Amino acid sequence: MRGTTSHTAPSGTPDVLVLGGGLIGLVTAWRAARRGLRVTVLDPEPGGGAAQVAAGMLAAVTELHYGEETLLNLNLASAARYPAFVAELEEASGLDVGHRACGTLAVALDADDRAHLRELHALQQRCGLRSEWLTGRECRRLEPMLAPSVRGGVRVDGDHQIDPRRLAAALLRACAHTRVTFLRTTARRLLAAGGRATGAATADGGEVTAGQTVLALGSRSGTLDGVPAHVPVPVRPVKGQVLRLRMPASRGPGGAFLSRTVRAVVRGGALYLVPRENGELVVGATSEELGWDTTVTAGGVYELLRDAHELVPGVTELPLAETVAGLRPGSPDNAPLLGPTKLPGLHLATGHHRNGVLLTPVTGDVMAGLLADGELPPLARAFTPGRFATSPAFEPQEQTA
Ligand code: GLY
Repeated sequence: MRGTTSHTAPSGTPDVLVLGGGLIGLVTAWRAARRGLRVTVLDPEPGGGAAQVAAGMLAAVTELHYGEETLLNLNLASAARYPAFVAELEEASGLDVGHRACGTLAVALDADDRAHLRELHALQQRCGLRSEWLTGRECRRLEPMLAPSVRGGVRVDGDHQIDPRRLAAALLRACAHTRVTFLRTTARRLLAAGGRATGAATADGGEVTAGQTVLALGSRSGTLDGVPAHVPVPVRPVKGQVLRLRMPASRGPGGAFLSRTVRAVVRGGALYLVPRENGELVVGATSEELGWDTTVTAGGVYELLRDAHELVPGVTELPLAETVAGLRPGSPDNAPLLGPTKLPGLHLATGHHRNGVLLTPVTGDVMAGLLADGELPPLARAFTPGRFATSPAFEPQEQTA
């Protein structure tokens, strides 16, 4: 076509075109390439996006919510895959991904929080999950920096953490080693011919054709032109503001500032403090329905610091290294959209909302299974995009920034 560039992989048309090079796009590309497929990833800044903001909690048990028991099974399956996934990725990339088997402590500050946490603990028990109720004193024995006002807590030794920035860097390197092709441009429009998806047109005027196309554009997944109306992509941006502080090397004889992830629900909002081995303390996160806004606000920073100070008073002594905001890809039921759509050749891997980092290993496996074998593995069948086909109309928001 006149005036367009043809972006074909060096060895010809790719088998798979992945639109979006965030964690989900990268892991899909890496796993599919490991299955022998030729893969191209289209993203102006691969490894960017939510991976640069997220705290990286692998919190299947402490982030359990009522009504999300189906999602819990997928979350647990992904958490169980993490150790082997990390070993394989570190071997393939030669990079450390900051996986830390530190466990999590969810605590309550007042009577309301305590009642809420008791309910969560009861739900965890009903679901057969491992969690232990602790008194306030027992919580402080585990984490001496906690405020004296902590009224009780739930200890979950199986909820760990990873550093999402390192994870993205390792996936990029692993993709490069597996001959994934990167095109640093934006997907503008889905291309279709003969009743099937054939690739995408790009912002630089080019076109990429491929046998199968995976839409993995995170919070922007619902904004791609050319996706037909009978293929709903009900994904919206949910803003999260996050702080990064620096902890002292150690506190007291052999004591770390915090030795595990500490979380709480304060005034109805989720708060977490994630201590990394390198001394970084990630404090998050707001949850705001503000469209495409990614401004770090004084109010957001104030609320996070106020609540973190109530939980762990010593945080206000720490250097504040970074403030950042990102967009979670929210879906109507908070679960991801994984698998084929009604348009043959177009698959979705998006809508991971609060669980993108946790769900990275299982998403890579199920998407690679679909792309290589033509069938979505049973584990993911409750999450196919078709579950929204008959739900009330979803109007994607127009992207202005
Ligand atoms: N999973 C943590 C968050 O979404 O803030």
